[in-house]
Amino acid sequence: MVEIAPSILSADFTRLGQQIEAVEQAGASIIHVDVMDGHFVPNLTIGPFIVEWVRKATTLPIDAHLMIENPDNFITAFAQAGADMISVHPEATYHLHRTIGHIRQAGCMPGVVLNPATPLAMIEEIVCDVDYVLLMSVNPGFGGQSFITSSIDKIKRLKDLIDRRGSHARIEIDGGIGPETAAAVTAAGAEILVAGSAIFGKPDPAGALRALIEAARIGERILV
Ligand code: DX5
Ligand code: ZN
Repeated sequence: MVEIAPSILSADFTRLGQQIEAVEQAGASIIHVDVMDGHFVPNLTIGPFIVEWVRKATTLPIDAHLMIENPDNFITAFAQAGADMISVHPEATYHLHRTIGHIRQAGCMPGVVLNPATPLAMIEEIVCDVDYVLLMSVNPGFGGQSFITSSIDKIKRLKDLIDRRGSHARIEIDGGIGPETAAAVTAAGAEILVAGSAIFGKPDPAGALRALIEAARIGERILV
């Protein structure tokens, strides 16, 4: 069953707890937290301190998407703050296999993230060691960007790679996901859909989330 992971990047931080509670009640199954360092991506956002507060606001798994250089320096801090899933970009670490091992040793599910221009070949040797592969369908750094349509084909090719290698990794997609793109990505094989502005950018985030789930399930039926 497809899962929706609202990204708090587009949430109203003056009432973050209420916003998380609203999407949890409306059917969100993961809370996605975008961590940016101003170096790997041209924006600065959330550190472990905010994850601690998110942890107090929900029992849902917290998915920390690390868009930071030298992610190894912060894995323990995010795990201790309450992250359950931690993903890293291969370009941000010299020794991806070691970094993935650190995430698992810290008690979290490891994931690897590919930018739109990063080929699937980057993860051939690691795809059996991760619990999920996150495909960026925008260039990371900001919410509210347009979905890059070539991502659909990349999801299909990733699904082939996962099947071919006998990996258990799930496919997550992030960027420009809304009711108009959700069915296409789930039909292609995406299992976790990250959405920020399509949920928290709307006047009724809970209603927007329900519409997104509905659209995602249509795509899922096509896949089946
Ligand atoms: C972008 C982040 C995304 C972002 C998605 O760098 O990784 O998670 O919040 O935002 P939307 O859903 O608005 O494209
Ligand atoms: Zn993200």
